[in-house]
Amino acid sequence: MAAAHVLVFPFPLQGHINCMLHFATALVGAGVHVTFLHTEHNLRRLGGRASASAPAGSSPRIRFLSIPDGLPDDHRRSVADLFELFKSLAAEAIGPFRALLAPSPTTGSPAADVSVDPTSGFPPVTCLVADGLLPWALDAAEELGVPAVAFRTVSACSFLAYLSVPKLFELGELPFPAGGAGLDEPVRGVPGMESLLRRRDLPSLCRRPNETDDVGPAQQALAKLSADSGKARALILNTAASLEQSALAHVAPRMGDLFAVGPLNAMSSPAPASSLWSEDDGCIAWLDGQADRSVVYVSFGSLAVITRDQFTEFLYGLVAAGYPFLWVLRPDMVEAGQDAALREAVGGAGGSSKAHVVAWAPQRDVLRHRAVGCFLTHAGWNSTLEAAVEGVPTVCWPFSADQQINSRFVGAVWKTGLDMKDVCDRAVVEKTVREAMESAEIRRSAQALAQQVRRDVAAGGSSATEFDRLVKFIKKLST
Ligand code: UDX
Repeated sequence: MAAAHVLVFPFPLQGHINCMLHFATALVGAGVHVTFLHTEHNLRRLGGRASASAPAGSSPRIRFLSIPDGLPDDHRRSVADLFELFKSLAAEAIGPFRALLAPSPTTGSPAADVSVDPTSGFPPVTCLVADGLLPWALDAAEELGVPAVAFRTVSACSFLAYLSVPKLFELGELPFPAGGAGLDEPVRGVPGMESLLRRRDLPSLCRRPNETDDVGPAQQALAKLSADSGKARALILNTAASLEQSALAHVAPRMGDLFAVGPLNAMSSPAPASSLWSEDDGCIAWLDGQADRSVVYVSFGSLAVITRDQFTEFLYGLVAAGYPFLWVLRPDMVEAGQDAALREAVGGAGGSSKAHVVAWAPQRDVLRHRAVGCFLTHAGWNSTLEAAVEGVPTVCWPFSADQQINSRFVGAVWKTGLDMKDVCDRAVVEKTVREAMESAEIRRSAQALAQQVRRDVAAGGSSATEFDRLVKFIKKLST
């Protein structure tokens, strides 16, 4: 049997890189060789941190390569121009990607190792695990004789909602009326969630800001992208049966095979370093000086951009709630923001000992710190899972994409936090933060969920068992 060597290729954004690197690390732990593929732009941003993330003692089995994403280096690659990144990758990265996998003229076998790094000693690539947002990579690998498996970094519930878009149109539940009217109307077209979802809980792309906006084609395209994961040998999701059993049961029949192997952040140890921003460890020393469960941690992930008014509402709400808070303010996070002025505003309003601002935090260390009492989050799937693993109650203010449905699950299914969706008002921030900090019921649910998901990834748990099945599946594809 050929030694299994998996090429792991995430969509080049922080939330995608993080969980696929956890996945890669877990594969290495299972004895599989991994080449982790970044874009050149991101590998430059990661600098030495990329190779430093190889697990201690086992680094010979993981390595990091890169291909160009086709965009100029000074391109923002921000949420406003994601479509450009999609298009550019498909047009420009495909050539170098194929070259990486192309059969070697001398051996006739796929030869990422030979063509790029003759000294690596890695066996030829035997399997691709690529982000489902890179369908061209999945197709190219199969064309070149390398079996391809899709990986989606979102929740199963949001993936199912995307799959259900054609049915929602059929039932007349899409398109919505434009604007914010009727967002509390129930939605029945997502199987298993008939009595749970309202229009406001569907992925943000389902909304139409104006009467003239026709988002139908984009909605159908996203549905097709999700359905196309069914053409791959299998789909991997970073979730657990205990979190999303019903959604998984509805997704499974539409995929070649389905593996629910999460939360991956609880599975791979030690944690790989993968931050595109440089982490400010000073916040851990600041947390060390705070009382147990007294701090509100505030972060809206790697992409969300808020207006200056929203910034002000959060700031006043947090100050009024009265707890010390640690706020991640990425330099590009507040529209028309001047970083220094915003930092000063937080320091001034919070009082120097009450507020601490960083541009980027070591989030998993923050969430496991004894001083953190709750997490005000945009409900990105990684952040949601990281809070779940540490048993930290959340206040969710979903920004876009899958976050609307994730926050519905937090508030109404797992009951591990509160869903502030579509409201950004200082009084609501104050009230929900207080409730999340003080509610014994929410804390109990969060801790029970943490125990459950830790059992899921421990030996014999559902995700660990699925991961073992996946490793066998990959090894079989490698024969
Ligand atoms: C987005 C989507 O929201 C998410 O659902 C999808 O799966 C991936 O793309 P993002 O908006 O960045 O990602 O949020 P999230 O999924 O929460 O990922 C952010 C990651 O950055 C988390 O792993 C978090 O730990 C990390 N992070 C964030 C830090 O390490 N430091 C910070 O200061 C902030």
